[in-house]
Amino acid sequence: MSFLEILGGLVLLYCFVYIPGAGIYRHFFRKSHDLKARYGAGSWALITGSSDGIGKSFAYKIAQEGFNLFLISRTESKLAAIAKEIEQKYSVKVKYLALDFGKSYEEKFYDVIFKETKDLDISFLINNVGMSARAEDPKDQVKHSLNTVITNCCGQTILQEHFAPIFAKRQNKSGIINVSSVAGGKPISFSPLYSATKGFNDFLSRAAQWDYEGKIDIMSLRPGWVSTNMLNNKKPTGFTIISDDCVEGALKNLGHDEWTNGHWKHALFQFLYFSIPDATFQRMALSFRTKKPKED
Ligand SMILES: NC(=O)c1ccc[n+]([C@@H]2O[C@H](COP(=O)([O-])OP(=O)(O)OC[C@H]3O[C@@H](n4cnc5c(N)ncnc54)[C@H](OP(=O)(O)O)[C@@H]3O)[C@@H](O)[C@H]2O)c1
Repeated sequence: MSFLEILGGLVLLYCFVYIPGAGIYRHFFRKSHDLKARYGAGSWALITGSSDGIGKSFAYKIAQEGFNLFLISRTESKLAAIAKEIEQKYSVKVKYLALDFGKSYEEKFYDVIFKETKDLDISFLINNVGMSARAEDPKDQVKHSLNTVITNCCGQTILQEHFAPIFAKRQNKSGIINVSSVAGGKPISFSPLYSATKGFNDFLSRAAQWDYEGKIDIMSLRPGWVSTNMLNNKKPTGFTIISDDCVEGALKNLGHDEWTNGHWKHALFQFLYFSIPDATFQRMALSFRTKKPKED
């Protein structure tokens, strides 16, 4: 057998045995961490964009695990209703702030967050807030694009920079999940701005993970399609999943992986679309764009 034949055999084994095998183990057999024991009983989780969709699912799942919650979104009435229900259902404490991350480029935006969390043992940060990049009315696109860059990137940066050094001093481990997207793992032609902000989220997370290795579980979450307001609550069929399943998959991988797609369907989706040659993929994405106005 020649050297090239052996090399080819090893590459095939890697692609068709190791990668699928590792994926099956990760999503179906690997034991998840007991997050409450790992991060400390009675500690708090701060979740941005937590009154709907993926952030709301995080709030319920994490409260169920026994964490107290600090929620941030724009709509106070939604936050109040969620806080009330979670406190009754899971006997944990819930605090919330109604803030617009569209203002998160201002230094003073963070004063209230830092002040209100100063005396809480925050152990878990979920940087989830995000928006899609296309304005409903093309006339508003400049304003909307600026808002997208700010909302998707500024808060995540400053909250990670603020909490990571605090987390590093805690006796227990701590956790940070930065919500990116499958669109952040590979540029997507039909939505360059969204894809770029999600790439920013992914890099911010994966680079910091090395700075705090062993002290903080920092993980980038790169979901595919999730049926939420952002996707006009698209029917959850095929590769589109519900937000509870996305969150369950993410929490299962926390403390094991520096990035995850969360659910196995999205891992499979990413594997398939990363395998398509770039030019072919980008043309397919462009034709998809003409049919579907919203991005994931
Ligand atoms: N859905 C998907 O298919 C998908 C796929 C991949 C990644 N993601 C990412 O997942 C994250 C959550 O998306 P989602 O689908 O759950 O979205 P969603 O259903 O639209 O929920 C967004 C949440 O963020 C809050 N929010 C929006 N803009 C805000 C602002 N300027 N300031 C404060 N809060 C704000 C919303 O509440 P208020 O309106 O009350 O503020 C809501 O609680 C985003 O980062 C998104 O990029 C989503």
